Amino acid sequence: MINKIESLKAEIAALTASSAAEAEQLRIKYLSKKGEVTQLFTEFKTLPAEQKRELGARLNELKNFATERINTLKEAAGDNVADADLIDLSRTPAPMPLGTRHPITLVRDKIVSIFSRLGFTIAEGPEIEDDWHVFSSLNFAADHPARDMQDTFFINRTPDVLLRTHTSSVQTRVMEHTQPPIRIICPGRVYRNEAISARAHCFFHQVEALYVDENVSFADLRQTLLYFAREMFGPQTEIRLRPSYFPFTEPSAEMDISCNLCGGKGCSFCKHTGWVEILGCGMVDPNVLEACGIDSKRYSGFALGMGVERITNLKYQVKDLRMFSENDVRFLEEFTAAR
Ligand code: DAH
Repeated sequence: MINKIESLKAEIAALTASSAAEAEQLRIKYLSKKGEVTQLFTEFKTLPAEQKRELGARLNELKNFATERINTLKEAAGDNVADADLIDLSRTPAPMPLGTRHPITLVRDKIVSIFSRLGFTIAEGPEIEDDWHVFSSLNFAADHPARDMQDTFFINRTPDVLLRTHTSSVQTRVMEHTQPPIRIICPGRVYRNEAISARAHCFFHQVEALYVDENVSFADLRQTLLYFAREMFGPQTEIRLRPSYFPFTEPSAEMDISCNLCGGKGCSFCKHTGWVEILGCGMVDPNVLEACGIDSKRYSGFALGMGVERITNLKYQVKDLRMFSENDVRFLEEFTAAR
């Protein structure tokens, strides 16, 4: 018996296993009910008492040695990912957290999709611009305050390089190279030299729309605006146009929609007027058409521009503009349902 114990010990010390399944086979071979080590215990019971005293300790030692050795082999082989036996392919995987779309993206896409149903196609322009595309071509007077350093980020003065303050610059970019009919929608980021607060930011997003063709009238503009407002805010929405001034449109207007929070009855959001302002618009000034090489006697057009943050605030009541650029996951996750 003593020889058997010693030879088994040597045998077990030399064992190897290339997979956890192989190590399990070894455990069965040596330590299961009919395993070789277990068999020795059965034999042990038949031995006379004085031999039992001597061999009992050695036999227990062998069992512990075998258990430890096989466990070590199992652990070492456990990392072996090739061991398909151990991967339960039928198990439900841990859920994968899905990201959410940024609210500005959601609203921008919605605006673009509403206008694309009317035949508008997307046009884009650079964020780093020059004076001509942002101001001069759009009929801004040489001393217009928008050109001021307090409002505009200048990268260079001569030659003038600046960050666009509005997406109206894309109008010029397109009209310079395209003859009517033109029907474009221009989403993009714009920059203004503002102190950052809950109500103002140094960058935000706008969507510009431009339609130039023969016989485009103010009625076309109004109908387009009504369609947009109802698609965006619901069929009960009413619009109103107030006279305004922009250098690049004549006449110019600002559009209000009936407050979608109180239904026009008056609340703190609409300052108890029942209306909230959402965009600027007007008939393209003939000077702008001419500056871009379009015959203003033959063609007319309308243009409109809106702030995406403003529309998003109206839809989702985001109180602080800074939330849009802080990337706080708790804020972004609130838009899961809109995904
Ligand atoms: N560019 C104007 C702004 O940044 C918005 C705007 C007003 C665009 C009237 C237009 C327009 O196209 O016709 O405030």
